[in-house]
Amino acid sequence: MSHGVLAGQRALVTGANSGIGEGVAIALGEAGAKVVVNYISGEERANKVVEAIKSNGSDAMAILADVSKEDQVQAMFKQMIDAWGSIDILVANAGVQRDADFTEMTLEQWQFVIDVNLTGQFLCCREAAREFIRRGIDPALSCSAGKIICMSSVHEVIPWAGHVNYATSKGGVNMMMQSIAQEMAVKKIRVNSISPGAIATPINTSAWNTPKAEAELLKLIPYQRIGKPEDIARAAVWLASDDSDYITGTSIFVDGGMTLYPGFREGG
Ligand code: NAI
Ligand code: BGC
Repeated sequence: MSHGVLAGQRALVTGANSGIGEGVAIALGEAGAKVVVNYISGEERANKVVEAIKSNGSDAMAILADVSKEDQVQAMFKQMIDAWGSIDILVANAGVQRDADFTEMTLEQWQFVIDVNLTGQFLCCREAAREFIRRGIDPALSCSAGKIICMSSVHEVIPWAGHVNYATSKGGVNMMMQSIAQEMAVKKIRVNSISPGAIATPINTSAWNTPKAEAELLKLIPYQRIGKPEDIARAAVWLASDDSDYITGTSIFVDGGMTLYPGFREGG
């Protein structure tokens, strides 16, 4: 029998064999949830995350699926629901960057990022909501019918030169999340985003892996440290739990103050 604020709940985390998704999956497991570790490549690493969750006393399984493909997303949800009966928590985390100067950006670079970061979240949110509605509230598990957490970014509000595809996808995630939240609240489904600042993961290694890059990055972070996946994971556990029951349609910035416009500490 699992313990913790998420005891008995069933979670699916996309892109959970790396970086933030891995941290979130492990933390949800530590909080008592069973966790599906979704991955698109890197099966060995996905199995390691599954083992880490199991060694902490929760159940876990890895499922291969490309979140940008409708048939694969539907097959993943079916596999999870067949195995565990339902889903209580979705963390739509999988994301990519394909950076380029605007005038050099190809349609492929644009479309790939939109497909994974925005359409991928739409497909996963829709499948989760369908199941939450089918099942309704199980008061033994949670006072809501289900929780969705979208992994957005500070770039849902901070424009980002050289990353037009990425910033646009995250701006889209914000409006998608709010619109789903507005529509689903009456069904007692909570939908929120986490908007991380700079978290040290494989997606942004070149932004922090030399002393020069790190110094430049710290100029953008008033709190003067680069974030860790655990910083995001703690917020995710709280948003998934009944401790945040009255919160829906909100984006929580976990960014060390990156959205405080640190350039305005002087000047302006
Ligand atoms: P990461 O590169 O370590 O992890 C991304 C994960 O998504 C990987 O597991 C990757 O295999 C998976 N993925 C990519 N395409 C996929 C697909 N089509 N289907 C299924 N999985 C797929 O990067 P990180 O940093 O952990 O990123 C996770 C999320 O956090 C992304 O949505 C990213 O935009 C967001 N984020 C990251 C920040 C950072 O500073 N690291 C800051 C703000 C947001
Ligand atoms: C990006 C990272 C970047 C961070 C802060 C994230 O959304 O994926 O590459 O370091 O925002 O700019």
